Amino acid sequence: MQLKKRGTSLIGLCPFHQEKTPSFNVSVTKGIYKCFGCGKGGDSVQFIMDHEKASYPEALRFLAEKYQIPIEENEGPNPYENDHRESLLILNQFAMETFQENLKLEEGKTIGYSYFLERGFRDDTIRKFELGYSFQSKISFAEKAIQYGFKSEYLIETGLCFETEQGSLMDRFRGRVMFPIHNLSGKVIAFGGRILKANEKTAKYLNSPESELYHKSDVLYGIFQAKKAIRDQDQCFLAEGYTDVISLSQSGIENVVASSGTSLTKAQIKLISRFTQNITILYDGDPAGIKASLRGIDLILEEGLHVKIVLFPDNQDPDSFIRKVGGKAFLEYIQNNQKDFIAFKTDLLLADAQGNPIKKAELIHDILESISMIPDSVLASIYTHECSEKLQMEERVLIAELNKVRIKKSKNQEKNEDFKRNEINAPMGQTPLGNQPHPIKESLGSLDFIPGDPILGQNPLKPVQLLKDDEQEEELLRLLLNYGGVEKEEGISVAEDIIIQIQDIEFENPLYSHIYQKITEIVQITKPFNPISLIQSRDGEIRNEVVKLLSQKYSLSENWKNRHGIEVKREEDLIAESVENCINHLKRRKLDHLIKENQDKMKLAKTPEEEAELLSIHLLYSNLRSNLSAALGVVVLK
Ligand code: CTP
Ligand code: MN
Repeated sequence: MQLKKRGTSLIGLCPFHQEKTPSFNVSVTKGIYKCFGCGKGGDSVQFIMDHEKASYPEALRFLAEKYQIPIEENEGPNPYENDHRESLLILNQFAMETFQENLKLEEGKTIGYSYFLERGFRDDTIRKFELGYSFQSKISFAEKAIQYGFKSEYLIETGLCFETEQGSLMDRFRGRVMFPIHNLSGKVIAFGGRILKANEKTAKYLNSPESELYHKSDVLYGIFQAKKAIRDQDQCFLAEGYTDVISLSQSGIENVVASSGTSLTKAQIKLISRFTQNITILYDGDPAGIKASLRGIDLILEEGLHVKIVLFPDNQDPDSFIRKVGGKAFLEYIQNNQKDFIAFKTDLLLADAQGNPIKKAELIHDILESISMIPDSVLASIYTHECSEKLQMEERVLIAELNKVRIKKSKNQEKNEDFKRNEINAPMGQTPLGNQPHPIKESLGSLDFIPGDPILGQNPLKPVQLLKDDEQEEELLRLLLNYGGVEKEEGISVAEDIIIQIQDIEFENPLYSHIYQKITEIVQITKPFNPISLIQSRDGEIRNEVVKLLSQKYSLSENWKNRHGIEVKREEDLIAESVENCINHLKRRKLDHLIKENQDKMKLAKTPEEEAELLSIHLLYSNLRSNLSAALGVVVLK
């Protein structure tokens, strides 16, 4: 084909349809082609498949021959032999299967399997969680793995073995029942092993060390087995241990994960928030332990999740409790005893502060601190209302205090960001409802947003975005695909930032929704984000759309120049602004739905009180909506 350079891409007459003016684009940097006439597009392999009517392997052979790249064809099951990460995963899989088989052999049967039976684990449960047993011998697993050709460095890297002072390999897990820890897609990334004898010298549980595969703080035990149920039930139970998860799951309560004995991290919360916004913490601790963990729960609030708390009687853990009462009574107990986190915290602290005004003042600040973490302002105001009753404080006073907390926090935040902001000179986070949850901007009432407010900073004039909903979704996907891997702030990529921000927003276009789902999966496993697997997707519809979105033609800069006559900075500079714009638009759409829903409810309201409450919700929503519109630079139609 004849290709001519144009801008950053190449252009020519499309080989797949008849045309006189060239609309066939090749992006050298992205490694893709796209025809804007007939719509065909893909990567180099796809091009050969289309052009030569070849299958995927044939296309690979064709290219290999053309460029004299030697290819080795084998029928072995492992096409990724050279990939390091993949090798570690394969070794873990092998270890898991070995531990599983051990359960059927003499030692495993009498020690490991009988332990599981004693705990009431059924065979299907043992299979579902891929439980196993490690032999007591010091080298049993190491020997087997070496015999099967696994490299000793991998044995050490996964932590399955370690090197002794004499330089020989030794098994880490010996004489323990084994709990494999899976990632989101079901791959074994680590193990927990429980000792069977009560032995004071060794810890009850031994866990794999951190490795390339396993970052303890990012992982939730049971998430692979639970994710579907979490999504279906729109709720996640959070327990502490392996056995809690397994016991509940066996009794039919499958939407349960565990933080494995550590306090909850942000990454774990984000993981849950991909499947639901509703999390119920199952506590087995004493009140002192619970108080210590209250701070951690503020983290959950900050992510916009709804948190409830359940305590079990007589220091029982979920495992022992469900074995005692059964699944049905267990759920009933939760239903009757779960408390909203803010109410829970208020009651817990209030019990301590009886008759002590200073303590009570402290507790009020403590609780307002928690409420100020909640990004959903409607929810925050409902909590404030509830607390005013519990604390017997005027709501007005609480709101005023709450706003003080918010202002203080937003000032701190600004200070921290000042430096960065000067560097990039993009108006990031300076507009209402910016990229980051900005407590004061998201608070309610007339305090909410004042253009040019000294606290909020300037409100740069926004060009009117005329894109329709569908186009907004498309544009957001385009931004995700093209710039998902760009670092937005330290440790957070643009993709992660978007995903976090729109967790309560659904894509309406089914194809976009599907692609978005795929992107969230990729973000979870590949860093930095890279859309390559979508370009190579087996689903033609996805592949086409992704290639289209990745292609230069719809570049933001051109859009903006054409639509708004604005001389344009580099697209990268505009990412933050565009992302915010899209998200605000989608948020506003969500609000429109909520307003509509609420209006329907108002029509059916039976009592004046109910009506008044719905009306106040309506006012909150429309207030938020007009703030969003202001941020979008669009005239509000009342
Ligand atoms: N844990 C750990 N190391 C320990 C103790 C606990 O890693 N020495 C983690 C495990 O993930 C364990 C969780 O903390 O599942 C909760 O601990 P615990 O309640 O003591 O364990 P259970 O799961 O209840 O185990 P079991 O019922 O078998 O005693
Ligand atoms: Mn237990």
